[in-house]
Amino acid sequence: MVRSMLSLGVALLGASTAVFAADEPPTCSLEKKCPKETPCCSQYGQCGIGAYCLGGCDPRMSFSLDSCVPAPVCQSKTYKMDSLDGIVDVSKYLGDSSKADWVAQGEPLLFNGNVLLTMPAHSVGTVLASTTYMWYGNVKAKVKTSRGAGVVTAFILLSDVKDEIDYEWVGADLSVAQTNYYFQGIPEYVNSGNITSLSDTYENFHEYEIQWTPDTITWLVDGKVGRTKKRSETWNATANQWNYPQTPARVQLSIWPGGADSNAQGTIDWAGGPIDWNSDDIKKFGYDFATFGEVTVECYNAKSAPGTNLHTSYTYTDYRATNDTIVDGTNRTTLKSFAGTGLDMDAGGSDTSGSGTASASSPTVTAATIPGGTASGPGSAPADSDSGSGSGTSGGDSSSSVQPSNCQATGFSQDGCGSSGSSTTSSNSGQSAGVRVERTLGTSAFAALVAVAGLFLL
Ligand SMILES: *[C@@H]1O[C@H](CO)[C@@H](O)[C@H](O)[C@H]1NC(C)=O
Ligand SMILES: *[C@@H]1O[C@H](CO)[C@@H](O)[C@H](O)[C@H]1NC(C)=O
Ligand SMILES: *[C@@H]1O[C@H](CO)[C@@H](O)[C@H](O)[C@H]1NC(C)=O
Ligand SMILES: *[C@@H]1O[C@H](CO)[C@@H](O)[C@H](O)[C@H]1NC(C)=O
Repeated sequence: MVRSMLSLGVALLGASTAVFAADEPPTCSLEKKCPKETPCCSQYGQCGIGAYCLGGCDPRMSFSLDSCVPAPVCQSKTYKMDSLDGIVDVSKYLGDSSKADWVAQGEPLLFNGNVLLTMPAHSVGTVLASTTYMWYGNVKAKVKTSRGAGVVTAFILLSDVKDEIDYEWVGADLSVAQTNYYFQGIPEYVNSGNITSLSDTYENFHEYEIQWTPDTITWLVDGKVGRTKKRSETWNATANQWNYPQTPARVQLSIWPGGADSNAQGTIDWAGGPIDWNSDDIKKFGYDFATFGEVTVECYNAKSAPGTNLHTSYTYTDYRATNDTIVDGTNRTTLKSFAGTGLDMDAGGSDTSGSGTASASSPTVTAATIPGGTASGPGSAPADSDSGSGSGTSGGDSSSSVQPSNCQATGFSQDGCGSSGSSTTSSNSGQSAGVRVERTLGTSAFAALVAVAGLFLL
């Protein structure tokens, strides 16, 4: 199932952008492309401009194939994950992958020299997405998972057309890594496979690796092959094509509440049951969390397509979105401001500083600019300093520049941070379309918008 899409729908909507809460952006799907004014279809299935046109923008569901901003090509790199320096909030990123390694939504923290992705009670968790795209290649990550029924940790590759290769861990079973893959987001219920008998995945770092070539996906844990899937096993005679992941994909690391009561029952069951927002970790630390150590990306480095990273950016030339429709070309990847789109990359250019910071609440911008919203409202991440740009802490104290509110400013072990949660489910064309969770944390009002998988399977 495309359950992991939930993790991508995860986001916190800052108070400063809560205006969008009242006025939901239009939805998009294969059958319903975005209108010209808000041409970009985000990975959450909603139309907008600015960050909607960056990572996750689905060209097939957007106004036109060139509505999305071209995607930065693969870069081989080891991400130490021992500081927050390379992590930038989604509200501060305009597409320059030389300035940030990861784009964050939610609450990443530094603890003991590793990055924690946190999920405070009643929140939708945290997701990091790489700023560059892998077109085949190897990626490995040292991970300690979260724990507890309903709490899901994920390390996945996800392309803009929703080709996906997954590791997922459900906190109810700390001996298993679940693996899966999807082709263009088509829900296929028989492709998952377990790698079993791991030593406690919450207590212990294991190194999880995905090796992806045009012919084979191999999942390895601690250097040992746990599963192999061949392209030759994925022929779809109806569609007359391989249902095999083949398009440039971002690395995504996340923690998300599979057991949240707003989710479909099937998702809750898969996640090991309803989530306990009063878990030991939440009582002790203030949040559930997953720990990410070193992440290494090795590009496929093909000499000719598919799988190259010879130029600047990847774009799609055809709605089939197969590996012969990708161009590794020289189009630029950066917007001048959040008023921009792939169709007009320089729009709003004058609002911008050289550092690429732009205001999402610019009075001239009325369309939604941050898919899923941002945590950078008043009382949250400092508005003028990039999240994680040097003010992150070293070592044992997890307080950081990415504090969502005063609530967590006291450090790793915090309490008395009352959160009043309420959630409502809205329905959209009969699908489970979206869930909004409002909560108050300290002085900061957060609205979380969770777009459920069904949204873009319409
Ligand atoms: C890439 O650049 C070419 C030439 O400038 C342009 O025609 C094309 O639309 C661009 N593609 C995208 C996806 O921006
Ligand atoms: C994988 O393991 C989980 C329990 O951790 C189980 O619920 C699920 O059915 C297993 N899946 C497969 C494909 O064996
Ligand atoms: C991708 O490209 C390779 C090389 O051209 C080709 O062999 C393969 O069949 C293509 N399709 C898929 C689904 O990977
Ligand atoms: C095969 O392709 C068809 C048409 O795209 C799709 O509806 C179906 O789900 C695919 N089957 C499998 C097993 O993936």
